[in-house]
Amino acid sequence: MTTNDKISVVLAGVTNGLGYTIAKTLVANPRLSVTLFTRSDTNPQIEPFVAAGAVVKQVDYTSIDSLAIALQGIHTVISTVPPVDLTPVRNLLKAAIIARVKRFAPSEFAFTEEANGELDYYNNKKVFWEDVRASGLEYTAFRSGLFMDLFAAGAPVKYEEAPLFLSSVALDIGAEKKEIPGTGEEKITFTSVRNIAEFVSAALLLDKWPEELGMAGETTTLNQVVRDAEEIMGRKFEVTYVTVEELRKKADETGVKGRADRMLRFLYQIRAAIAEGKTEIKPYLNEVTDVKPVGVKEFLGKYWGTK
Ligand SMILES: NC(=O)c1ccc[n+]([C@@H]2O[C@H](COP(=O)([O-])OP(=O)(O)OC[C@H]3O[C@@H](n4cnc5c(N)ncnc54)[C@H](OP(=O)(O)O)[C@@H]3O)[C@@H](O)[C@H]2O)c1
Repeated sequence: MTTNDKISVVLAGVTNGLGYTIAKTLVANPRLSVTLFTRSDTNPQIEPFVAAGAVVKQVDYTSIDSLAIALQGIHTVISTVPPVDLTPVRNLLKAAIIARVKRFAPSEFAFTEEANGELDYYNNKKVFWEDVRASGLEYTAFRSGLFMDLFAAGAPVKYEEAPLFLSSVALDIGAEKKEIPGTGEEKITFTSVRNIAEFVSAALLLDKWPEELGMAGETTTLNQVVRDAEEIMGRKFEVTYVTVEELRKKADETGVKGRADRMLRFLYQIRAAIAEGKTEIKPYLNEVTDVKPVGVKEFLGKYWGTK
């Protein structure tokens, strides 16, 4: 490949917020030739990507053969498909090996391997990560910390960046009484979905992928986020602190009976990881790309800055 050749990339999973934003960003990168894999037969969201030059392929994740055909000539696969069910992502990886794809990035986009390992809901990320490691392909895990966009949950300015479900995970910016996991001084990384997409787009041009590609919109503390929110919103908030032990107890008591329970347990486990100071990401991509990410205060100003 010469430096002027376009890199052929498949993005698998495009209809939800992260995949949608990555698709939007990749199609705007003239160095990339973009193919989007989706399960949708018709989806108006995807039309602008086609207009911008992307090839869209409706794929069947149960068929390794058809996936391998669709991957012919592709250099890099980026997946946003979460391994909630392992079959689709395992089939995508097997097809990538058959099609002699060079690089593969599974749907990580969260914390470190250690922190993900404490989250039951992410158990399959761990399982699939081992598959990826054993695949013989070049691979990486994009690690971004928490989506900064979650701070727009309940904001007076409507969030229209992407089709993303917003809920308060680390901190409820709109709540008068704020509950902070831990002491509020533990380091935590937030990256906006738009910046994640920009980092991914820039990472596609790197000659060699290390095993991890970390990024950070901003690494801060929750006490600092409260101070940022107070400045932006022009008032003081009451703050209480919850210990790791309390959060782990709540997670254990919640159980795993239905989806609602599993999601609540996931939330308590994320908060426990925050309280343990395990949700900081080393920002390698900030050092090797030109992406200028938005910080927390700027982000809060956009959505909550109406005083
Ligand atoms: N760090 C954070 O704060 C944070 C927050 C949320 C999510 N995440 C991570 O970001 C990644 C994407 O999350 P998400 O919520 O966008 O995931 P998602 O909506 O569940 O899935 C992403 C895309 O994968 C495809 N997909 C979904 N289920 C599938 C299945 N069973 N089989 C095949 N394809 C399927 C869909 O694309 P098509 O409809 O186009 O096929 C969907 O748009 C995940 O790794 C998640 O863990 C991180």
